[in-house]
Amino acid sequence: MKIRIPATSANLGPGFDSCGIALSQYLNIEVLEEADDWKIIHSLGDEIPTDESNLLLQTALKLAPKLSPKVLKMTSDIPLARGLGSSSSVIVAGIELANRLGKLNLSQKQKVQIATEIEGHPDNVAPAICGDFVVASYVDGEVHSVKHHFPLCDVIAYVPNTQLLTSESRSVLPQTLSYQEAVQASSIANVMIAAILNGNLPLAGVMMEKDRWHEAHRRKLVPHLDQIRELGHKIGAYGAFLSGAGPTVLILSPEEKTEQMVAALKEIPLSATINVLAVDQEGIQVF
Ligand code: HSE
Repeated sequence: MKIRIPATSANLGPGFDSCGIALSQYLNIEVLEEADDWKIIHSLGDEIPTDESNLLLQTALKLAPKLSPKVLKMTSDIPLARGLGSSSSVIVAGIELANRLGKLNLSQKQKVQIATEIEGHPDNVAPAICGDFVVASYVDGEVHSVKHHFPLCDVIAYVPNTQLLTSESRSVLPQTLSYQEAVQASSIANVMIAAILNGNLPLAGVMMEKDRWHEAHRRKLVPHLDQIRELGHKIGAYGAFLSGAGPTVLILSPEEKTEQMVAALKEIPLSATINVLAVDQEGIQVF
């Protein structure tokens, strides 16, 4: 059995802690032979455990403690600590592993609830589970989420070669926002979501760049964001936003502008990887 989970990008600007899209980069888990102890074979670096202390097995065994040990193979092209949902993909894979091996028969709604309780926010885990574009709320311990088709476009990921931990990126956020600021921030998010539902990416892109919840506070950690936006405006991209807690920036681009946008991004004097991705429409896949 193989389980495939997509990378994700949370927030989309003003949809802070609520909106996310699934992307065409993947974590793959292959279930191999029975063993005396759990073992994960991977080449993702020494800091990723190969035993039960790995987040994948911690998650799976929390849900199904009696699973019999197996050898698993883990491969991933989702960069770590870059704001592309790498740890959410592992949590979701752990839930699906427990679901399949333990025959838990979990519904998609149950998976989203469990994953959100573990991760803390629904905006990465919900699209990793459902695919495409998901809008979710997590209030009073209860998740409500809606999946919708995301309009067709290229998604350019500008991934700096430096890590930014979510905890560090959250530490610069304010504790409070005035009532008036919150109402404005919410109205921007509402229009962005309505524009996506209408297939109106030009308007969605404009609203994505008007976020009042988090990007203004995180800007000092990601000075390349403004520079990328300027390039996007010149070339004709729809919009750019910080992917999750950063440092990755996603640029939504009409297909015919992508080549020019990528060439311009390469000129930014920062060590970074640039990937042209698409929105994944499937979420969890089991083969
Ligand atoms: N919404 C979260 C944030 C995503 O921006 O901090 C990372 O968990």
